[in-house]
Amino acid sequence: MEIQSFANIPSEAQILLLAASAVKEHAYNPYSRFFVGAALLTYSDDIVTGTNYESASYGATICAERAAIVAANTKGFRQFKALAVIARGEENDMLETCNPCGLCRQLLFEAAELSGGDFVCYLSNTAMTKIRVTTVTELFPLPFGPSSLKINIQPYLPKESQAAQNPS
Ligand code: THU
Repeated sequence: MEIQSFANIPSEAQILLLAASAVKEHAYNPYSRFFVGAALLTYSDDIVTGTNYESASYGATICAERAAIVAANTKGFRQFKALAVIARGEENDMLETCNPCGLCRQLLFEAAELSGGDFVCYLSNTAMTKIRVTTVTELFPLPFGPSSLKINIQPYLPKESQAAQNPS
């Protein structure tokens, strides 16, 4: 896991992070007043974003990362190259990077499995001066995943990816 500056991450990651930063302003957050944005780069180089959506029951809250995964699936995207996450408080910047919660790591693992095993994650502080460059598998060691249940998720990949992974 490395720490990078904005200038030293690839331009596609910079664009992804800027998209995540913009969408965090749409957070529905009356309880935490915490603004989180996530952006996924799909295999087809589309960007799909998500932001946190809270509930009076607290537990029903959906984090930005999971919102982005579900939004992507709704648009027909299940395979990703990268994720960016960034957050801010109501009146304070986060000096540390915003790291996905445990629930999000579990769902990110599912998305990584569908994406060929892993993808890079850019976790940023608010000012984008500190960016943790990591991967889903690094964030989520010893996973409980599809293989734990002996489930084959290949049929849920786009047809092109199924063909690429099972050449006949
Ligand atoms: N939150 C996210 O959206 N993603 C994270 O990585 C951390 C936490 C949200 C959930 C809740 O709306 C607020 O931030 C405070 O936990």
